Order: sequence, then C-alpha cells, then structure tokens
Amino acid sequence: MTTPFWSEDVNICQHFGENSKERYGAVNPPIVQTSLFAYETYEELSHAIKDERHNYVYSRGTNPTVQILERKMASLERGEVAKCFGSGMGAISGALFALLKSGDHVIVVNNVYGPVLQYLSFVEKNNISFTHITENISIDTIKEAIKSNTALIYFESPGTMTFKEIDIIKITELAKSNNIYTMIDNTYATPLFQKPLTLGVDIVAHSLTKYIGGHSDTVAGVIICSNKLMDVIYPQGYQLQGSVLHPQDAYYIIRGLRTLPLRMKEFHTKSLEIAKFLSEHKKVRVVHHPGLNVQSYTKDQLWGYSSLFALELNVDDFETISSFLNNLKLFQKGVSWGGFESLAISPHFGGFDPVKNKGVPVGIIRLCIGLEDTESLKQDLFNALEQL
Ligand SMILES: Cc1ncc(COP(=O)(O)O)c(C=O)c1O
Repeated sequence: MTTPFWSEDVNICQHFGENSKERYGAVNPPIVQTSLFAYETYEELSHAIKDERHNYVYSRGTNPTVQILERKMASLERGEVAKCFGSGMGAISGALFALLKSGDHVIVVNNVYGPVLQYLSFVEKNNISFTHITENISIDTIKEAIKSNTALIYFESPGTMTFKEIDIIKITELAKSNNIYTMIDNTYATPLFQKPLTLGVDIVAHSLTKYIGGHSDTVAGVIICSNKLMDVIYPQGYQLQGSVLHPQDAYYIIRGLRTLPLRMKEFHTKSLEIAKFLSEHKKVRVVHHPGLNVQSYTKDQLWGYSSLFALELNVDDFETISSFLNNLKLFQKGVSWGGFESLAISPHFGGFDPVKNKGVPVGIIRLCIGLEDTESLKQDLFNALEQL
C-alpha cells in the first residue's frame, strides 16, 4: 500500500487546523458548547450575520470545534472547503436538495448506499428524475443515459455491497464536457486511500460515522467542494435543513482522525488476507473485494483497501445465509461499519427492495473486518462455513 500523500495526510490528522492560541495550552481543542455567539454591539452582530459561513453567530451555522474538523476534512480531500452535517445522509441529502431543481435529471452510477436511491425516489414528486446504472457500467452506457436536463452524476467507487470500482477520471471528463456536476460518496476509501477532487470530481461526501469516527459511537457526515458550490449548499442544504453536527460529536470525530492512518493501514492488510482466505474455501462462490479484482486504472485512483467487502455462498437461500451469520461468534450482526468491531449482515433482511437493493445480488453477505486478531477472525469464518 503506497499513497503519494501519506506523510502529509498523517500530519493533517494530528495537528492541522488547530490554532494553539484557542487551546489555552491544552493539546486537545476545546469543545465549544454553545448554541449562540454574543457580540458587544448590535453593529458587530449585524456584520457577522451577513456572512454566517465565516463568522460565529449560531451553532446551526458555524461552530469553532466543528470548524476544526471541517478544516481537516477539506485539507485531507485537497478541497477548498468542508461542511460537517449531523449524519452522512444529512450531508448527501442536503447537497442534493441544494443542487437540484425541478426538472433536473440525475444519473446514479454503480451500487450506492440504498437510502440515497430512496431519497431520489422521494424527490421524484418534485419533478426530479434519475437513471440508475448498475450493470454493464461503461462510459458508453453513461453517455447514453445523459439527457438535456441531466444536472448531476452521482456515484460510489468502490460501490456499496459489490465493491466494484469505476474509472473516476473518465466519468469526470465526460461530465465536464456536458456541463454536468459530479458527486461521489468516498466513505469506503476515506481521503487517505482516494482523493476524488484531484481526479476532477466536484463534490465529495462522507459518512464520518464509519472509519473516520472509527469507534461506532458517533453519527456524522461531511461535504467537501469548492467555495462556489458551498455558497449554494451551505444556505439551502445545511442551514435551512438543519442537519447540524454537535460540537461534542465533532470532538469525537477529531479524536478518531488521530488514529485513522494506523487503523486504515491495518485494515488494508487484514481485509485482503481474510478475503483471499475466504475465496479459497469450497463453500464460497465469490468474494467481492476490490483487491481481488484490480482494474487497470486502479493504481491512479485507489491506493488502499478498507475493511469492508462481501462474499456469496454457493447457495443463495436466506435460511443458509442466516445460519452462516448465526454460526459466526466473533462477528456481530449489525448495520453500519468502520468501527473497531467485526460485523456481518445480509442487506436484504429476508426481502428484496427493488429500489434500495437494485444491482445487489440476493446472496450477498457483507463483512466489516474490525480490529480483533486476524487469525481468530479467520477461524470464526472457517467454523461458520464448516457448520453449514
Ligand atoms: C456508503 C455509505 N454512505 C453513506 C451512509 C450514510 O451515513 P450515515 O449513517 O452517517 O447517515 C452510509 C451508512 O451506512 C453508507 O454506508
């Protein structure tokens, strides 16, 4: 695993964006626990209110602790500016709400987080339509899907559940030549392993709930983009929607960032080792891990693998799938991912949702490898397979 930005990024995760004068000598930044900021004069307040994005007025605008996290996230993604939200979904839906208008069309490429598709279905009532491409993804199929009213191409790479990669540079070139915005959910890779803005993407979203928070104790999200786009997203998609990140939670995410490089390095090695081990087991039909299916463009876009991947058993019935899940002892059964704990789920929960799960094979089982001992995790998976 080699990334061209590793040393700079490791230091950003530690000190960047923290002004020592505001810390009273403490090594950690203060949690500025306030809803509002008061001024000596009415004129000073009036001046601040004219630009709430850059002045402290109200914590549903800008808060000093949250701002430290925003500086770090913008810097890690090599973007101009970041805004933190109360959840990943808050960030994604806030940006979509602000950017899309009635009559617009969106192209969704690859398998993406299901609730984003549910959100796009929901806004169909506002005359916003979308086309979802999950099969035969190529520049030609995306080109064919472009309409005169296409405003945005939204994607994930690697994609949710099947972890397929797509060629980011080719997509951004196509989008730019058609005056279409591009937006990526970069939660899988984190900015340590993939920097989409450097590949021409306009907007990056993350669920900070996952690897960046890293301890399964906080829900948060972020958008990173240019100042010009943030001027649109901030007033409408953030302030008016009110999906605010609490300063206490921002502190937890800042703390998570300190160890992100260590955890991601560990996850890269561990997940590849476990994925290879599973792919050799006779009861496993396929393992969906980007490291087992390296594409020609991969070395210039994805520099490492996180700990999320999926497998399919030789049989697809829910009974066998739930037996496998229940046979696992070290892997807990739960949604979300990116924390210290190993998790396993079938995303279908016994039923197939045609919008949310489009393109996700019926038999897929997603694993999130945690920080437990690698040999113990392999043994747990082996036992669960043998008992079937
Ligand atoms: C890929 C991806 N993006 C976004 C989200 C939404 O993030 P949050 O749960 O913080 O709203 C999730 C949640 O699981 C996710 O898996």
